[in-house]
Amino acid sequence: MLTEILKPDEEGVSRAAQLLLEGKLCALPTETVYGLAANGLNRDAIAGIFKAKGRPQDNPLILHIASMEELPALCHVTPLAERAAQAFWPGPLTMVLPKRSVVPSEVTAGLSTAAIRMPSCAAARSVIAKAGVPLAMPSANLSGRPSTTTAGHVAFDLGGKIEAILDGGPCTGGLESTVLLMTGKPRILRPGLVTKEQLEAVLGAVEIDPAVLGGLPDGQAAASPGMKYKHYAPKAAMYLVEGEQDAVTAFLQEKAKEDAIGILCGAGEEALFPGAVCISYGADDGQHAQRLFDALRKFDETAVRIIYARMPQENGVGLALLNRMIRASAHRIIKIL
Ligand code: TXA
Ligand code: MG
Repeated sequence: MLTEILKPDEEGVSRAAQLLLEGKLCALPTETVYGLAANGLNRDAIAGIFKAKGRPQDNPLILHIASMEELPALCHVTPLAERAAQAFWPGPLTMVLPKRSVVPSEVTAGLSTAAIRMPSCAAARSVIAKAGVPLAMPSANLSGRPSTTTAGHVAFDLGGKIEAILDGGPCTGGLESTVLLMTGKPRILRPGLVTKEQLEAVLGAVEIDPAVLGGLPDGQAAASPGMKYKHYAPKAAMYLVEGEQDAVTAFLQEKAKEDAIGILCGAGEEALFPGAVCISYGADDGQHAQRLFDALRKFDETAVRIIYARMPQENGVGLALLNRMIRASAHRIIKIL
């Protein structure tokens, strides 16, 4: 199959909506990462998503809507969920709510809840509105690989396997949405660009699921099935280095003398580590978020054996960065005392 590249103009939006209504798969930009869209009410199209991504069948999908009015038809809305939607939609927040029967079990992997999000990206919302159906849309990467933040990343992973890619340029956010369980006391299942602090200012106390930073205790089912799979993995073995700034720098300088070492570093830090392959992911948490997946994909184009990165702080967007980087490094953390 030849994958069409569409522009984010009226013609491109119409073509994407048409393909989706025909049951085809189409990658769309969002403010977080690129999504692989299918008609969320068409079981065969949904099956196509799992096949194209190589996604485990028990990992449910997020349904994307274009307006608030679509929400009550898909799930049971609580007053607290209403308040969160008012505050954070459109935007990078996904809410998990009790589903209605119209949502196919293929979308929710058999769960009684559905994950719903209204993206703020204009191109994505236009396609959803034009198609007139909710779109099931996981991140547009091969399962296990870093998520995609440019049309080029999507073409690399899924070119030839999907009907079209709508190229909206690089994603502004760069990390996937915050997934918030709203069936009881609000609980973050996956941290994202809407932070715990921002949520608490609107909703009161918000819990963080233990799977966000830890591994799953043996035998315990994941509240969010996606948390248990290998994720975001670059080809090289990645290590997070935790400790006081200068001590970590000294450690990395020693490691940089070894063969085929990659360092994911801050802006301007490259000169500290001669001999290593340094890829900068910017100067602050916002830039780190936007560039993390691109940087991990760039390391795959080099011959590095090992990638080291400083461990991010846990506050604000740092929690989302930490969650993705812990997974990308398969929980390999070096503590410098
Ligand atoms: O920013 C995003 O959320 C992007 C863009 C494309 O919108 N989408 C995305 O989808 O990241 P995906 O499939 O890569 O991640 C969805 C996460 C998974 O961890 C999945 O297990 C969880 O949401 N999820 C989906 N439905 C759920 C449910 N009913 N209960 C708990 N977790 C759910
Ligand atoms: Mg994903």
